[in-house]
Amino acid sequence: MIVCICNNVSDRKIRQAVDSGMTSMNELRTHLDVGTCCGKCHACAKTVLRERLEETSQAQPMLFQTNLLVA
Ligand code: FES
Repeated sequence: MIVCICNNVSDRKIRQAVDSGMTSMNELRTHLDVGTCCGKCHACAKTVLRERLEETSQAQPMLFQTNLLVA
């Protein structure tokens, strides 16, 4: 799905950008030009960004602090 019609940016491109380390609208704006023309895509792009960040944070393995078990 195209999120930003002005700059031909898809939701897939935004997800790939998040996977490569981008975490903010400023970064998406700088690297993909999302929202730099009419700005109507801003809310949708932000939703895609937030959803992808949530998905990737849930995919992180849980780390256990073994030193807490020793006490
Ligand atoms: S639709 Fe994204 S700047 Fe116009």
